[in-house]
Amino acid sequence: MADRAPLDISSLGYVAVGTDRLAEWTDYATGLIGLQRVDGSRVQTAFRMDDRKQRLVVSTEVSDDIAFIGWEVPSPDALERVAARLDDAGIAVHAAPRAVCGQRFVGRMIWCHDPEGNRLEFFCEPEITDDPFVPGRAISGFKTGPFGMGHAVLKTPNVEALVPFYRDILGFRVSDYALSPIPLFFFHVNERHHSFAMVGTDVRGLHHLMLEYCSLDDVGQGYDLAQLEEGRISQTLGRHTNDYMTSYYTHTPSGFFIESGHGGRLIDMDAWEPHETDCGPSFWGHERLYLTDEQRDAFRDMRLALARDGKRAPDCPWLRSVTGSR
Ligand SMILES: [Fe+2]
Repeated sequence: MADRAPLDISSLGYVAVGTDRLAEWTDYATGLIGLQRVDGSRVQTAFRMDDRKQRLVVSTEVSDDIAFIGWEVPSPDALERVAARLDDAGIAVHAAPRAVCGQRFVGRMIWCHDPEGNRLEFFCEPEITDDPFVPGRAISGFKTGPFGMGHAVLKTPNVEALVPFYRDILGFRVSDYALSPIPLFFFHVNERHHSFAMVGTDVRGLHHLMLEYCSLDDVGQGYDLAQLEEGRISQTLGRHTNDYMTSYYTHTPSGFFIESGHGGRLIDMDAWEPHETDCGPSFWGHERLYLTDEQRDAFRDMRLALARDGKRAPDCPWLRSVTGSR
């Protein structure tokens, strides 16, 4: 691994996606996911999940599934450093005009494209609202704050070009990675095990967005609701081996997935060493209903091997207290 670049980016701040099914998105985002619809027009709808004025924007004015991904930095100085590193690397950086910052509800914002053309925005001074968050269904809330809105996972046919950009220029830190049967790279920018990941595929786009609930029951009750809709679930309830998230995945109206999770792992960033994993993505569950039988069998075989070996997350509070793991 290359020497670490400075970590000026602090969390996943906001995401905007394109759709031609705006009304369906609103029903899905509020009724199943539990977001709060805060603003809607004929072409765009925005949603809240905490004290920020908006976290997710869905727009009919962009054809791609990802319109932009917003990364938060803690200060104008940090924003300058990110801009300088992009500029030094020969990447065009643009300062957003005041009107665009207003649309994002942030004080300052710069933007660029990653090597695959995804629009990335970097911002500081987000606007906070005193209006209480009113979830679209009766959930306890989302785990955000210093951990950001969750994690975003990109599909890419070009992992070799994207990893150096995110790791060496932006300073994202590798959490872990797998090289086979497909490349998977996970990155952290705060204590959340990963705020960003990429999966090697033959197409590009957004693979999924993960939102973390404060209660496991929020996830379970959403899972019950999702099962009422034919074809809504893309991965069944399961638990991941690297970030320990208990979650299920649903198809969004845009085609990518939202992972609804609880219990994600927090890491000690100073002590963390990036490492390769080869045990498969899930301790149990996460049956990928969108894959072929052959592909599903491969994942199932890895889970059954973990089950045979008794592999599980270290989730015993007593064990945590004596080992210091989190
Ligand atoms: Fe995920």
